[in-house]
Amino acid sequence: MGKIRALGYLVATATDLPAWKTFASDVHGMQVVEHTEERLLLRLDDRSWRIDVRAGDEDRVQTYGWEAGSAEDLDELEKILTVNGFPTRRGTAAEIGERRVTDMLVLNDPDGTPVEIFYGQSREHSPFVSPTGAKFVTGDLGLGHVMLSVSDSNPFRRLYMDLLGLSLSDYIDLGPDPGTFLHCNRRHHSLAFTYRPEVPLGVGHLMVQVENVDTVGRAYDKILDGAAPLGSTLGKHTNDEMISYYVKTPSGWEMEYGYGGLEIDVDTWVPGRWDAAHFWGHKRGKLIDTGA
Ligand SMILES: [Fe+2]
Repeated sequence: MGKIRALGYLVATATDLPAWKTFASDVHGMQVVEHTEERLLLRLDDRSWRIDVRAGDEDRVQTYGWEAGSAEDLDELEKILTVNGFPTRRGTAAEIGERRVTDMLVLNDPDGTPVEIFYGQSREHSPFVSPTGAKFVTGDLGLGHVMLSVSDSNPFRRLYMDLLGLSLSDYIDLGPDPGTFLHCNRRHHSLAFTYRPEVPLGVGHLMVQVENVDTVGRAYDKILDGAAPLGSTLGKHTNDEMISYYVKTPSGWEMEYGYGGLEIDVDTWVPGRWDAAHFWGHKRGKLIDTGA
């Protein structure tokens, strides 16, 4: 495997932090670490935080962090990126303090979105306590996965596969440009991207996974009762076998909330190609009046 071990965290700005608090905590079981007018900081496990939502004028994902294994790995990645046309800088002391990591790199992806690579994120001695009883599947699988809408998949494959060392899980023929799904640990994919001209560039969704299908079902009931606008109905993905639904976050981009994602043997995995993203479900459009 490469020097990137997992998706570590996500940082967003949002115009409605109280709505985010309800969405993330009351509906989806994340633990609120800090909730002020400026910031909503969320735990999903023993890490000090996994999702950081800042009050801002814009509703968008600002950056996300990839976890490297060591200081040496960070040094090596910095060299590889720099000589291959991705100018990279070290995080400032303020950034390192905010992220609660030991050291970090900052670069821009081929569409200009800042991406971070870190190692040594702070852990908490106090137990993670979910307000809904959710147990998130994280650990060495990381936070989950992000799906990006990109302007061209080729430079993203070069950055993430050739330079950062993620490996191909499979492709899905979603349209003229196939979806590319990449892994950096046993989670079937930690990153996916595709070009779809009708979709704004950047993070389309963040997937988080829970241990119990009933946790998904109970949260789904809250969505159907109007807690947040549904993005897609419950369904099962082909490639990672995830049973999940998609919901619009208070910022408009989506979260996939799932159960049962495939864990692969990275040493023997053979990349495949699927004709569709779903075995069933994941229907979009006005199929259900959630009242939201
Ligand atoms: Fe997904």
